Amino acid sequence: MTMNGKKILAPMVRVGTLPMRLLALKYGADIVYAEEIIDFKILKTTRFENKILGTVDFLLADGTVVFRTCDEEKQKVVFQMGTADPDRAVRAAKMLENDVAGIDVNMGCPKDYSVKGGMGAALLTQPENVKRILTALVKEVSKPVTCKIRILPTIEETVAFAKLVERTGIVALGVHGRDPVHIDVIREVAQAVSIPVIANGVSTLVKGYDDIEKYRVETGCSSVMLARAAQWNPSIFREEGRVPSFQIIQEYIKLAVKFDNTVGNTKYCIQGLLHDDTTSAEAKLVQATSNMREICKIWNLIPYYELIMQSRKTLEEYTDNETKK
Ligand code: FNR
Repeated sequence: MTMNGKKILAPMVRVGTLPMRLLALKYGADIVYAEEIIDFKILKTTRFENKILGTVDFLLADGTVVFRTCDEEKQKVVFQMGTADPDRAVRAAKMLENDVAGIDVNMGCPKDYSVKGGMGAALLTQPENVKRILTALVKEVSKPVTCKIRILPTIEETVAFAKLVERTGIVALGVHGRDPVHIDVIREVAQAVSIPVIANGVSTLVKGYDDIEKYRVETGCSSVMLARAAQWNPSIFREEGRVPSFQIIQEYIKLAVKFDNTVGNTKYCIQGLLHDDTTSAEAKLVQATSNMREICKIWNLIPYYELIMQSRKTLEEYTDNETKK
């Protein structure tokens, strides 16, 4: 996995689950980051090969899916971790290193739960711990390691931090230029280090596909990573232009059904995809749904839903019979 000339789906909690990642890949994303998951949580899971869905699942004891992935994205998915501790980070990364293309450490999340635990943006003020975490991951994990930061209060601090993480041996660095995005700071970072820098924070400026390359050039970066623009329409990565939102939502729902995504997560992602369109009949109806069938009904997908349920049932019965033999 190299980070040169790549169009990347940024990590997004709740948005970056399997259906959205696969849709972004279908429409031209080269690499997809999964939603941030805390090391503690991964350490509580067990790896399970789900033969019915064709996925690899990391499950809690009660069956809750913490991370679901599949072969189709294996060479392209980066697992983003929240961590504050090198040992825990390595143990968590080792559990899934064979199922993903890379491991990323989140050093940008400003949310309370992250910062209080010494994770996310808290790491930006803890260079020694950052060094320990990244060095340990680079040494122990068989896959490329990246990290994603937010720019610090000054250019000098941001550049110094970038140089520090570069020395740990990570393969690339994502830089979120904050809102409104500081293109100049990202450019300074890209000039100051020799590893690929991934520009992030330009979603509100990206009006179409060509803007991805435009901001790659303006930031002097190797690659560009989009969060909100992809949350609103993952076909932003499509060279021929975005496909209409009704079609994207239908495709998203199909993937959500196929991979047994939870209703809550599916509704959340649909709200994101309806970004421009909160007053439509569909937008109002989706809020009231409580299961996948109801969601499918709004987007005329009942035949697809029934087909998937029937083939899953047949497969389950077949698998049951095989194990009883
Ligand atoms: C985010 N962001 C984020 N960042 C991160 O490192 N890990 C995460 O899990 C999340 N989660 C998340 C959820 C949602 C819904 C949004 C909108 C954003 C931040 C994101 O990756 C990115 O840095 C910013 O959104 C800026 O980039 P864009 O939106 O301008 O492309």
